[in-house]
Amino acid sequence: MTEFSKIDDESYRIAMGRLLVMYTQVDYLIMHACAERIATAPSDEIRIMLGKQVGDESKHVRIQHEWLDKFGTDRAPVFSEVQQELFLQHFRSLNWLDFLTDMYVCVEALGSEAVEQIVPMADPGTRDSLKTPLEDEIDHVAFGLAQLNIELAKLHEQQRMEYIENISSRLDFLDDTLHGLGVDIPAMFAAVGADYQQVVNTVLERRGEILQSLALPKAA
Ligand SMILES: [Fe+2]
Ligand SMILES: [Fe+2]
Repeated sequence: MTEFSKIDDESYRIAMGRLLVMYTQVDYLIMHACAERIATAPSDEIRIMLGKQVGDESKHVRIQHEWLDKFGTDRAPVFSEVQQELFLQHFRSLNWLDFLTDMYVCVEALGSEAVEQIVPMADPGTRDSLKTPLEDEIDHVAFGLAQLNIELAKLHEQQRMEYIENISSRLDFLDDTLHGLGVDIPAMFAAVGADYQQVVNTVLERRGEILQSLALPKAA
């Protein structure tokens, strides 16, 4: 199927529409969780960076809303009110180190890696709508991973290594939670023409790279 005929394909449009609604909801929730975190962030510099991110995410939500209006598919939320509240509660409950791990390794880095995998399958309008958001996510991930390195460097070596080893199980837990929400993500990916297993493999590869880079001994 060429990319130009894709937009006329009903099952593609429905599935891509749901993925776009889901992505927009996640951006909205990131905006909300980061805005709440400003009050307790450890420094002015970090408060400024979180404030910038809140602005970026609100811009992403706007872009996606405008594109969804044109796309014309079902706008009903993928995540219910209760699920959204659980997401916010989860992030509220975390200390700064765990917030950095869950927000920037899991949601930002691995989430945007999954979205990146969709881009080549997407129709030109959708691809265009994802361009600015995905560019900004690179900055957010860089900020989050840099802060995570700073926090990890404060731990004793053994504690640091234990924490890094434990990150995989934190991520597995979040991944299981996502799959337990009753959203059939593999089916959505398949309907837009993505090989779900391939997407999973790429995300796992990225996760391995991040964990490896966090584990590198840091110069004093
Ligand atoms: Fe975003
Ligand atoms: Fe982001």
